[in-house]
Formats: sequence, structure tokens, C-alpha cells
Amino acid sequence: MNILLLGSGGREHALAWKIAASPLADRLYCAPGNAGIAREAECVALDLADHKAVIAFCRDKAIDFVVVGPEAPLVAGIVDDLSAAGIKAFGPTAAAARLEGSKSFTKDLCRANGIPTATYERFTDAAAAKAHVRAQGAPIVIKADGLAAGKGVVVAMSLAEAEAAVDMILGGGLGDAGAELVIEEFLTGEEASFFVLCDGENAVPLVSAQDHKRVFDGDEGPNTGGMGAYSPAPIMDEAVTRRTMDEIILPTLKAMKAEGCPYRGVLFAGLMIDAGVPKLIEYNVRFGDPECQVMMLRLRSDLVPALIASCDGMLKNFGLRWSDDAALTVVMAAKGYPGSYAKGTVIDGLDAAAELDDVEIFHAGTRAENGRILANGGRVLNVSASGRTVKEAQARAYAAVDLVRWPEGFCRRDIGYRAIAREAKRR
Ligand code: AMP
Ligand code: GLY
Repeated sequence: MNILLLGSGGREHALAWKIAASPLADRLYCAPGNAGIAREAECVALDLADHKAVIAFCRDKAIDFVVVGPEAPLVAGIVDDLSAAGIKAFGPTAAAARLEGSKSFTKDLCRANGIPTATYERFTDAAAAKAHVRAQGAPIVIKADGLAAGKGVVVAMSLAEAEAAVDMILGGGLGDAGAELVIEEFLTGEEASFFVLCDGENAVPLVSAQDHKRVFDGDEGPNTGGMGAYSPAPIMDEAVTRRTMDEIILPTLKAMKAEGCPYRGVLFAGLMIDAGVPKLIEYNVRFGDPECQVMMLRLRSDLVPALIASCDGMLKNFGLRWSDDAALTVVMAAKGYPGSYAKGTVIDGLDAAAELDDVEIFHAGTRAENGRILANGGRVLNVSASGRTVKEAQARAYAAVDLVRWPEGFCRRDIGYRAIAREAKRR
């Protein structure tokens, strides 16, 4: 079959790498893609916001299946539009993608169905929101309702910070995404990412993974999209996984079906785990980036039938095979990220790094020019490796990082430290 993948990050490179390895894939296209994805797929310059153009491309190239990577096109209804045009597409409809596209939708769904999450209130009026903040006290969490490219959440440690966040969001600082906000109880514990493949009714858990959101070593500094990830995440033990499925995921699928918007696609639950009790921080309606990269390294089964089964409602009794090995990825970012950074700097040494055993380098934001690879984003490379333990995977990944010559880039040097400490304790 002919497959079109939508997106341009490290997540999409990892998906392209797995899809290209499928015996079911005849031709693989990616829009818009990047310099790394271009090795696995034919990259095409489509505007993902222009659904008509995507549909026209699918017709022209006889595309049988579209895999949507990022959330924005899902929330904008690209799966609805492709389906209406008779093209099979992996991912939720716009109505189901509200689980990521609207925080108040998700919080109300949790409240109505007894799904454990931080307590909250919704506001459109700044004075009322600030009165609530003062009544609750800090720390407290302020969230824009809509999609805000990672900028919509403020974990306020003081009242002043919380009130400033209310003014920024309701004052239009995030555009339409901030027309409404949610004020939440501050949760403590350890965060983990949990992923399930859903077909509207059934949910197949994928392997656990955990990312590091803060920009600097020791989990310090501002939040980012993710500076590295590893799998498995030891905190997601069997008991926590079972509770997450029974108390969070399955009630969500049941509620979505009852609301008339059954959830198909990958559902990514951001969890806070405290003393073995998982609470939902948020849902995303897509694979995590960079969690996807480590999951794809561990996936032994063909990805394509699993994605198709998700679309077709055929996940009941569906099994996926995973490697027992661990995987870890280190994000190399342009200096300055998550603030402002330079684009167009030259990256060398990638081929030598990729030749190391059990190493895969996924491109997150690159472009090729005259045979050279140039940085083209904030998060630029995902240097990834597998090993028998997280520690071994970490050593391999950093050995590869050390071969990449890119003076304008940086990375954290401690990805996986929590899992490695747990591994050491177990021995
Ligand atoms: P989100 O975009 O909702 O995942 O939020 C970004 C980050 O903010 C999360 O990964 C958490 O680290 C933090 N966060 C969000 N909500 C809460 C909460 N209720 N309590 C504590 N931290 C939170
Ligand atoms: N790594 C977190 C995310 O993809 O949102």
C-alpha cells in the first residue's frame, strides 16, 4: 500500500523508519518531513493546514493510508476530512481530539466519570480567576484551554506568578487558545507517560516511557517539549499500569463512545504518580515526542497493521511484540532553546555516530543543503540507542552524541538518571 505520513519531527522520523520497514509499505511519502526522514520516505512540501491539498495529493499518488503525527491537524479535523474523502487515516476525529485540544473538555469528562485528576475550576473572567487563585493559594497551576504549542501551562509557585499567568492568558497572550482557562490543584509525585493504541472501544497498552521536560541537567530550568526519553519507565510497574488502565484509560474510552465520539488512534496520558496512585495530568492525542523514538526502537512487530487495526476497530486481542531491551534517546537542541536560537548551523559527524552498534539517529529539525545537514529548529536531533539496561543504552547514546560535531548545539548529560538509579538499587 501507499502511505502518507504527516509531520516533520523526530517522532515522525521514528515512525517513518518503522513504517518503511513494513512489508505492507510500497511507497512512503512524508509531508513536510526533514533531512533524516528523506532517507526513509519521499518528502513533499504540503501545507498540513490545507486539507484540500492533502486530499488532492492522496488522490494523485493513490495513497491508501495516512498516518498523522502531530496534534494540530488532528484537532483541526484532518481525519474527518480524509475519511469523508474515502481515505483511511490513523488518528482521532476532531471531536475525539478535544481530549488534547480542550483542557476544559477533558477536565469535565474526568469529573463526570470519576477519573482521578487534579481538582479544577474553569474561568473566562480574570477577576474571578484571580479571586479563586487567592482563595486556593500557591503553588497552583494555570492552563489555557486550547492548543498553545507547549506554552499554555504555568505551574505557579507564587500568587504573583499565578495572577500574571491569568492576565497573560485571558489578556490574549496566547490568542484564541486562551479565551478560557482552567485553574488546577498542584499535584506532586513523579511524572510518567503512558500510551495506548485505541480503536474506539479497545485499548492496547504500549511499552512505558518517560521523558525529561526541563532543559537542564537535574531537571532544572524551563519546560521544553522534551530533552530526552527512555523506555521502560520503571515507575510504570504492573500495579500502576493496571490502575491506569482501569481507572483512567478504559473509563475515558467508554465516556468518549457514550458522547458519540469514540476515540481511535494513540492516546497519550501524562500521569502524576504518587505512592503508586496515578492521576491524569493531561491527555495528548498523538505519540509523544521524544517518547515515540524509544518506543519504536523497542517495537518488534510491524507497526502498520497495528495502526490499521486502530482505524478499523480491530484491536480486540491484538498483540504487539516488544524487545526486552531498554532504549534511550538524547535530544540535541540548538543553543538558546526553548528560547530563541539560530537556524542554519552545520552539523557534522552524523554518519560516524550512526555507525555505532545499536544506535539510531532520528532527525527532529534538520534540512539538507549541498550535501550538508543544517539545523532547522529548536530540537534538532534525537540520538537514540538500545541496550540490555537503561544504563547501557545511555552509554551508547552518549558515545554517539560525542561523535556529533555541532558547536551550536547542546544536550543534557543525564537522560535516564532516575531509571538508572532504580536499576542500581534492584541489583
Ligand atoms: P501539560 O502541558 O498539561 O502536560 O503540562 C506541562 C507540565 O506542567 C506537566 O508535564 C507537568 O510537569 C506540569 N503540570 C501540569 N499540570 C500540573 C498539575 N496539576 N500539578 C503539577 N504539575 C503540573
Ligand atoms: N514529550 C511530551 C510530548 O510529546 O508532549
